[in-house]
Amino acid sequence: MLLENKTAIITGASRGIGKATALKLAGEGATALLVGRKLDTLKAVEEEIKEKGGKADCFVCDVRDYEKIQLMINEIIHKYDKIDILVNNAGISKEIPFLEMPIEIFDEVCEMNLRTVMLMMKVVLPHMAERKSGSIVNIGSGAAIRGLPKNSAYAAAKAGVVCLTQAVGDEVRPLGIRINAICPGPVDTELFQNSACKDFILSAGGDLFQPEEVANGVLFLASDLSGCTNSQTLVMRGFNRW
Ligand SMILES: NC(=O)c1ccc[n+]([C@@H]2O[C@H](COP(=O)([O-])OP(=O)(O)OC[C@H]3O[C@@H](n4cnc5c(N)ncnc54)[C@H](O)[C@@H]3O)[C@@H](O)[C@H]2O)c1
Repeated sequence: MLLENKTAIITGASRGIGKATALKLAGEGATALLVGRKLDTLKAVEEEIKEKGGKADCFVCDVRDYEKIQLMINEIIHKYDKIDILVNNAGISKEIPFLEMPIEIFDEVCEMNLRTVMLMMKVVLPHMAERKSGSIVNIGSGAAIRGLPKNSAYAAAKAGVVCLTQAVGDEVRPLGIRINAICPGPVDTELFQNSACKDFILSAGGDLFQPEEVANGVLFLASDLSGCTNSQTLVMRGFNRW
């Protein structure tokens, strides 16, 4: 058990990579604190974790809302006393050629994929700093390393996640906190299955990965297994271009 007595917040935990991560971290002994917008879908994940003998709790929160995040983190601290791990996973993609993309959509995609990560870290980091301990894993994308056509806002926001990880990771290192990012290639989730670009992405012959494979990377970065790793990016995209 790598995460005995640890608490782990996972955003976007109702499905896909977030759900697989919650199951993985709970399987290693962590209390999985599941964050999402709908209680019923979060509850289903909580039940699944508990059926397997793990510990979980649900917190309904739209991670775009700074005030709601503050209330949620206060509630978590009140109930669990500490936050050991934060996985910023919630994200969206909207695929529109740049020339056709309304500025409002560009802003929406950047807000959801980049600003939410900043907001969560703003609220959680003071609690980690107080205890001089913590590990944050931010989910980027292969599109952060090499911009994906028709995904300019998504790629730019995810590149922002990588740089935010590096900059803040360097700042909080003396406080005993590690922050790392994962850039997955295509992963078999609703987000990817609904993507108009999925055939294009796979056309070069690369692989489609399972959410559990990304969850393995999250476990590595969240746990002491990666004690010598800070402000780094774990690229999990096989030989895919994105
Ligand atoms: N699937 C892929 O191919 C792939 C590749 C690279 C990176 N990613 C990234 O991995 C992360 C997870 O993606 P996924 O494929 O599992 O997607 P998904 O659409 O299956 O799941 C995303 C989750 O985020 C939640 N969410 C969305 N907006 C939210 C909000 N405002 N507040 C709280 N929760 C919110 C959704 O409800 C859902 O539970 C995302 O950041 C995504 O960009 C995915």
